[in-house]
Amino acid sequence: MAVRKLAPDDIQPKSFAFSPENEAWAEGQIAKYPAGRQASAVISLLWRAQEQSGGWLPRRAIEAVAAKLDMATIRVMEVATFYTMFNLEPVGKYFIQFCGTTPCVLRGAGDIKKVLERRVGEQNHVSADGKFSWLEVECLGACCNAPMVQINDDYYEDLTTETFETLLDDLAAGRPVKTGPQNGRHASEPQDDIKTLQDPKLYDGSMIGAWRKRFEEEAVKTADTGEAAAATASVPEGGKAAKPPAGRPEESKAAETPATRAKAGETPIHPADRKEASDPSKATKIDPETQDKAKPAPQSDKSYVATPSKPEAGRPVPDAPTTPIAGTPPSDADTRRDGSESKPGVTVDKDNKTS
Ligand code: FES
Repeated sequence: MAVRKLAPDDIQPKSFAFSPENEAWAEGQIAKYPAGRQASAVISLLWRAQEQSGGWLPRRAIEAVAAKLDMATIRVMEVATFYTMFNLEPVGKYFIQFCGTTPCVLRGAGDIKKVLERRVGEQNHVSADGKFSWLEVECLGACCNAPMVQINDDYYEDLTTETFETLLDDLAAGRPVKTGPQNGRHASEPQDDIKTLQDPKLYDGSMIGAWRKRFEEEAVKTADTGEAAAATASVPEGGKAAKPPAGRPEESKAAETPATRAKAGETPIHPADRKEASDPSKATKIDPETQDKAKPAPQSDKSYVATPSKPEAGRPVPDAPTTPIAGTPPSDADTRRDGSESKPGVTVDKDNKTS
């Protein structure tokens, strides 16, 4: 892990203040959080301060963010030095993060690194013209397009030494460059022998909504040709839709319910049911003798949970405590199991009383 410390004092700027635009933006970020929780905006403010400072965080910028959020400077310093997205020393106009993790290395990242060392120099140093600096980082999540680098906010993938040299040439000359794969791939689709997703319409937007159009066209066609009427006319009159005799249940009338009775203008409860409910001779009887005698739930004598010993069940009862007796030399402690030393001068009898 790299040592992350602030840049030397001789290259630190003397002051920092957010520009009016960034000041207004910062206020908007802070307003997203409840009163007293403005520290939650620390990362977004540090990020904006880094952008304003040319890609790195001077000490004065960290202090300014701390003052704005009413935080102790050391707290903000901890955040800035912890997250590697914050650069603590100046970087080039094009800050190259080179992926040196296994998939990229297996695909030729070592050769990309040699190009960087030859053209830019050691990592963490800005090139003489101020345009480039680079840093080796862990996987950037684009392994399907290895080897790759991130330059400022963009990924450049499927690199070879030739395409990477060309990329650096174009950036140095201020020419426009293409982000993403540099070998003609659209994304991370198979590179050779492509058999699917080859229709150019998939990528030009012309197929958006095509399925809806097709259904609409088919609906119009059906109406025009009278296919729907023909389909209805083909069903024989009086034909049976199902075959109840073949074992399928026949649809039956819904059971009489309070709702159906009320709908028919009758009382919701049938008079015969009401009479039966009020007949005490038909009420459920409870034996007063057995009512209060709670019957214990049946239990197995086997349990997965440790239970106290049951001498009556034939289990042995230990006649001595199984814990070590303090003050007993290890050689005399019959019940000692862990071999640890006991406290001298304290003894415990069989009833667990200390003296
Ligand atoms: S290993 Fe390089 S992007 Fe994942």
